Amino acid sequence: MTTLTLTLFPLLICLSTVGFMDVTLANLSYDHYHNSCPHLESLVAKTLMPIFLTDPTSPSAFLRLMFHDCQVQGCDASILLDSNGESISSEMLSGRNFGIRRREAIDMVKRVVEAECPTQVSCADLIILAARESVAFAGGPRIRVPLGRRDSTTASNRRADTYIPSSTVSVDNMLRIFMSKGMTMDEAIAILGGHTLGVSHCINVVNRLYPSYESEKLGAFGIYLRLNCPTMAPLTNLTFIPNDLTPFVFDNHYYKDLKAGRGLLSIDSSISTDPRTAPIVDRFSRDSDYFFFTFSSAFVKLSTVGVPTGKQGQIRNQCSQLN
Ligand code: HEM
Ligand SMILES: *[C@@H]1O[C@H](CO)[C@@H](O)[C@H](O)[C@H]1NC(C)=O
Ligand SMILES: *[C@@H]1O[C@H](CO)[C@@H](O)[C@H](O)[C@H]1NC(C)=O
Repeated sequence: MTTLTLTLFPLLICLSTVGFMDVTLANLSYDHYHNSCPHLESLVAKTLMPIFLTDPTSPSAFLRLMFHDCQVQGCDASILLDSNGESISSEMLSGRNFGIRRREAIDMVKRVVEAECPTQVSCADLIILAARESVAFAGGPRIRVPLGRRDSTTASNRRADTYIPSSTVSVDNMLRIFMSKGMTMDEAIAILGGHTLGVSHCINVVNRLYPSYESEKLGAFGIYLRLNCPTMAPLTNLTFIPNDLTPFVFDNHYYKDLKAGRGLLSIDSSISTDPRTAPIVDRFSRDSDYFFFTFSSAFVKLSTVGVPTGKQGQIRNQCSQLN
């Protein structure tokens, strides 16, 4: 018995880290919709495909949407609620959600899912599935995710201000945020690898350029950034800069860029110089398999910790409003 436990123990740890074990994870499970909506995952994939094919920037939008939903009171689709003049003040009113796009696409997926499995599937799970499909579509790992989240009955722009980090977050605070979700330091650096997709707008970059210029950190990259963002207060909010050299592909180029001094946001370049995290950046830049593997387990943790389940919250009929 003891021998058996001892032999199984490392195996269990290993399996649960990757998230491939069919057990209950924080009251979520891999077969939650087995009876109530058996074809859910293929239905979501099929519904998103035309969006992916017509808008190459959509995978980045869904991935960031997931992070920003999960960061505020757990992954509960609170980010999709519109203000209702009473208890709900939309999280979109928070400056931290600047650039969040494609919320309406989740509503659209929800309508398709409702037609097949009415009142069963939460908007919160649909956000996670959309992010998972986005990573896979863009060339990243196919991540198995446990399901069974419930939708929130509250949302607050103040909470979004508090819990979504700004681009100038310190490495310490960034690590604290992700480690509080049970991540290792490697996983924290891997989940930031979400920045292998998409873009950032000047408004989130100018702090590095004006009034004083981080010339030592930025070097030649800073000249490029100043050309793209020529004024301290951006004249329009339309100018954006790709997060890495391959913004449509989920790969480890983000880490290669960091090593070459092309970290776009302040937190991006900080993890390549901090002595604790620089070796991890280096390893991911050389070992794409290890990055994919670690990103996958981090993704499961980010999307699992502190979510409403069971009888908490509700299954919304429409993602943008309460029932
Ligand atoms: C400390 C943590 C993080 C900070 C401070 C941060 C900050 C930011 C900022 C400021 C932007 C630019 C937004 C814009 O100007 O439009 C951005 C973009 C993005 N972030 Fe993060 N982020 C963090 C973690 C993450 C995580 C964990 C993910 C997902 C796994 C993620 C995914 C993305 C994606 C995909 C984009 C591009 C969005 C687009 O193209 O529309 N970020 N992030
Ligand atoms: C799972 O649900 C039960 C009953 O609702 C609750 O007591 C328990 O704390 C939950 N576990 C986790 C990890 O959320
Ligand atoms: C850009 O967006 C920010 C945040 O939403 C806003 O405060 C600012 O006025 C906008 N700037 C312009 C030029 O539209």
